[in-house]
Amino acid sequence: MAQTEAQPAPAKPRVGRVADPCAMVIFGVSGDLTRRKLIPALYNLASQQLLSREFAVVGIGRTPMTTEEARKKYSEDFKQFATGAIDPDLWEWFVRRLHYVNGDFNDPATYDKLKETLAKVDQDHATHGNFFFYMATAPNYFGSVVEGLAQHGLMTEDNGHWRRVIIEKPFGHDLDSAKALNQQILKVATERQIYRIDHYLGKETVQNILALRFANGIFEPIWNRRYIDHIQISVAETVGVETRGGYYDTAGALRDMVPNHIMQLISLTAMEPPISFEANAVRDEQAKILHAIQPFTSEEVLSKTVRGQYGDGTMNGQRVPAYRAEQGVPPDSRTETFVAIKLLIDNWRWAGVPFYLRTGKRLPGRNTHVVIQFRRAPFILFRETQVEDLMPNQLVLHIQPEEGISLRFAAKKPGPAMQLGEVDMDFEYADYFGQTSNTGYERLLHDCMIGDATLFQRADMVEAGWSIVNPVLDVWKALPPRNFPNYPSGCWGPKESDELLEREGRRWRNFEQ
Ligand code: BG6
Repeated sequence: MAQTEAQPAPAKPRVGRVADPCAMVIFGVSGDLTRRKLIPALYNLASQQLLSREFAVVGIGRTPMTTEEARKKYSEDFKQFATGAIDPDLWEWFVRRLHYVNGDFNDPATYDKLKETLAKVDQDHATHGNFFFYMATAPNYFGSVVEGLAQHGLMTEDNGHWRRVIIEKPFGHDLDSAKALNQQILKVATERQIYRIDHYLGKETVQNILALRFANGIFEPIWNRRYIDHIQISVAETVGVETRGGYYDTAGALRDMVPNHIMQLISLTAMEPPISFEANAVRDEQAKILHAIQPFTSEEVLSKTVRGQYGDGTMNGQRVPAYRAEQGVPPDSRTETFVAIKLLIDNWRWAGVPFYLRTGKRLPGRNTHVVIQFRRAPFILFRETQVEDLMPNQLVLHIQPEEGISLRFAAKKPGPAMQLGEVDMDFEYADYFGQTSNTGYERLLHDCMIGDATLFQRADMVEAGWSIVNPVLDVWKALPPRNFPNYPSGCWGPKESDELLEREGRRWRNFEQ
């Protein structure tokens, strides 16, 4: 089975390791992802000397263009999307390694052309026959492109070279389609060759959850149901759907954010310590958590989930349109732009500890964080302070925009009376390690080039994520919402989201930044 397949550990230590010689092929190169993230990330790797000198990129797109024209375009785009100062000599070195192939992904002739180009590129740039293919296409091409590559021998690993595929999200649109896609791909490639990307795992602070938990002795002993009251995970966005209305209206907030990004945050926060940082050791523990999440019955979907859609409103003093008035969105759309869910994890560590999660667009702050709320002190010694006035301790993992960790606890207010106030002890990444400018894709691309799949999703993990949301999708489909839009832009979602916690004596922690 895919999940038990042995994953060879990277041969050499990963820190500071220069990536293997290779060529990267980008399917759907004309899209936004290439110019905003992939090219700047590759350039950053080159400037940190983590990219092999024996490297090349081949872009494939439907726009008729020569390689020279493509290089000009990449250069123009790069001026806009570089994350730091551009070194003209380095860019010149880099751009000479970019090639372009024009073709339709459904046409077998495109793969013949690609094969010829790769043979030449391999010779010119000494890429050692190592190729990885990045699917930056519309999701309906993922399966057929991998098949096309395999049919043309481009997935075959022999003579010591490797072939890998990076697949963007969305990986399927429900459990059945995700399974079907896995089957289609795994017929022609092995799990070891497949890198399902989730850009949340490229974020430093998401990776830092592992460091916080497993590199420190003080947290693990209290990281369980005896000490933790509940956990909140919020991924709040101020933006609306911008130009992505066409895609978003077929997806909605649940599909767009929960089985992927939010499940990553849950599994890293809740997993057991892995036996090593080898890819499958980490992913086995993540997968176990996903499997331990209690499946929803139809009744539970009604009581434990909330959906919302934004109406118009005012944000930062500006009027913004309702979701239904956005470009590409039907005026009677029933797609949710907000979701809040209460989950329980059935294992010894977490039994009875609610995990509340929410995500939405057009909320008052752009803020992703995990709040670990500890149980209250068992006995209140301080008579002049109302029990309710004492907030329990909270450890907050700030993922973005600030990156850091804060701990909230009670302290005595100065003065003759014994009165308590809340204080925060803050650690900010930037204060200790300085600001690093990167796209979030550097680590993931580099990992693929050295064969480390730890931060990529395995087939079973993707399917487990979908299994959790599938009952919700089914019930929501059967009972379309009648009250959309149900929150104005610029507020924290529908009132039912607050009620989800309030009826259990809890409340969301909101960060308005
Ligand atoms: C994407 C979603 O995967 O993640 C978008 O499709 C969302 O809808 C984005 O805006 C959020 O990513 P980030 O890195 O800005 O938190």
